[in-house]
Amino acid sequence: MQILSNFSLKKYHTFGIDISAQYFTEVNTVATFKELQQNPIYKNNPLFILGGGSNLLFTKNYAGLVIKNNLKGMEVINKNEDYVWLKIAAGENWHSFVLWCVANNYGGVENLSLIPGCVGASPMQNIGAYGVEIKDVCDEVQAIDLQTGEERTFTNTDCQFGYRESVFKHIYKNKYLITAVVFKLNKKPVFNTSYGAIEQELKAMGVEPSIKAISDAVINIRSSKLPDPAKIGNAGSFFKNPEVSKQKHDELKQQFPNLVAYSLDNGNYKLAAGWLIEYCGFKGKRIGDAGVHVNQALVLVNYGTAKGEEIYKLSQQILDTVKDTFGVTLEREVNIY
Ligand code: EPU
Repeated sequence: MQILSNFSLKKYHTFGIDISAQYFTEVNTVATFKELQQNPIYKNNPLFILGGGSNLLFTKNYAGLVIKNNLKGMEVINKNEDYVWLKIAAGENWHSFVLWCVANNYGGVENLSLIPGCVGASPMQNIGAYGVEIKDVCDEVQAIDLQTGEERTFTNTDCQFGYRESVFKHIYKNKYLITAVVFKLNKKPVFNTSYGAIEQELKAMGVEPSIKAISDAVINIRSSKLPDPAKIGNAGSFFKNPEVSKQKHDELKQQFPNLVAYSLDNGNYKLAAGWLIEYCGFKGKRIGDAGVHVNQALVLVNYGTAKGEEIYKLSQQILDTVKDTFGVTLEREVNIY
């Protein structure tokens, strides 16, 4: 195991911002991680666990030890007539895992195709897209306490999943290294095509729903509106879609008849933040190398040499303008450091 000093993280997070870590190391096995826990650099510095770096904005160099979670392995650990249980190591690439499930006809994650990042980060913000969230398929999360080294298993309920939320973003933030996620997938798949765009895409493709067809449809939709982090730095949706009361929604709808909103079971409404931001004139806006994506206003981008602070400043400008225009406060979804 090697601990490197003043290590550039540019290639290790999808915004591609040139910042560095005071110390950096990669862990490939649980045993190496346990060994690392005895190292004085580990014991005496702030710790930061890095997965695929796809939901992160660094605004400054990291003064501490960055640990890249590179644990690998995908295995079937149980099955019955209806379900299969898969244990996937945290450092596996999320989309490779989805493609493996598609190839084996295991149903449940096909709507989550092409999401950047690693499996270990997926429960942290309860990743979701096109009508499915990880909370629907996550059976348990296996982790190691960063301080005590104790191994712990979190059930789905323990994770307290919410919209882009879990305990790992709050009370257990920076407290655990996630080692693996166990998924319970369907051997007799139930197709989720309720998100309108999927149905339209399947029709355009001229195919019937299947695990493979839905995965392909999602890949087509995402590729058409979301920037590929390998080409333009970004971290997906920068803000959450805000939830407002029915009264607030009705007032806004009267003033802004084109407002895009979805009613929720609790009587509130979720507003499409992309629409709010576009209405405020930010879509495609560029300040230096920091910008708002041309096809999806919810996504902030780094065209090359933007600094983290510049992206952050742009996000603040968006937040302030949306607040002044609609009286709605956006919340950042991306983790800021
Ligand atoms: N819209 C606009 N202008 C825009 C963008 C969106 O008017 O610039 C409106 C459109 O009417 C569109 C609606 O907003 O129909 C919803 O847009 P979209 O389907 O692109 O979804 P979203 O609500 O903007 C959410 C997730 C995405 C996920 C998609 C699909 C959040 C914060 N984002 O975006 O997740 O892929 O739904 O399910 O909930 C991510 O979290 O990084 C992410 C990309």
